[in-house]
Amino acid sequence: MKKILICLIALTVLTPLAAQDIKLTEPTKTGGKPLMEVLNSRKSDRTFIKKDLPIYMLSDLLWAAYGFNREDKRTVPSSQNRQEINVYVMFKDGIYLYDAENNLLIKKFKGDFRKALGNQEYVMDAALNLIYVANMDKASNREAAYTDTGFIAQNVYLYAASAGLGTVARGAFKRPDLHDALGLSDNEEITLTQSVGYVQ
Ligand SMILES: Cc1cc2nc3c(=O)[nH]c(=O)nc-3n(C[C@H](O)[C@H](O)[C@H](O)COP(=O)(O)O)c2cc1C
Repeated sequence: MKKILICLIALTVLTPLAAQDIKLTEPTKTGGKPLMEVLNSRKSDRTFIKKDLPIYMLSDLLWAAYGFNREDKRTVPSSQNRQEINVYVMFKDGIYLYDAENNLLIKKFKGDFRKALGNQEYVMDAALNLIYVANMDKASNREAAYTDTGFIAQNVYLYAASAGLGTVARGAFKRPDLHDALGLSDNEEITLTQSVGYVQ
């Protein structure tokens, strides 16, 4: 019994705490389609096909959405530079939090929580669903949190148009269910969700 206990303690100590986090590749910060072409093809597309994104696309997408393009500032503006939004990524098998500083997806919950995204069937086909969460303690005010979210969502639209992916912003999620699935506190509010993936 004592030996088993020692083995278990050793295993706990030796196993990296974040064994299931996803290390993202270095984002590509050059290239892509010219801005005017991207604007011309920006649209909501819901014709998702069930196909995962390669890791480099995931990395570029998240950097475009909410990465740092200066030491402590991001690809999007935020009211009073509060940077109050957290970006969660929901895959079919789990939920991750984007850690832009460390270029990492931190695993939060294992399982399929996509039902909480609402009844629109296409969310089940999209490679991933982004969930934007405002920390209202950090935000300059509630309206600003929603405005700041819009910049992130638009960057995702622009990246998708550049990379040949589809995306659609979504307000039709099940607020209490999604709040619970993410284990959010009372001072956190989901401002928007957004499906992203390959399309027909
Ligand atoms: C805040 C917001 C919430 C939205 N919610 C949904 C939604 O729940 N489901 C959906 O299919 N589209 C949703 N959309 C996408 C709009 O329907 C879409 O942007 C609009 O029809 C214009 O089409 P376009 O984006 O192709 O120009 C949303 C868009 C925004 C900006």
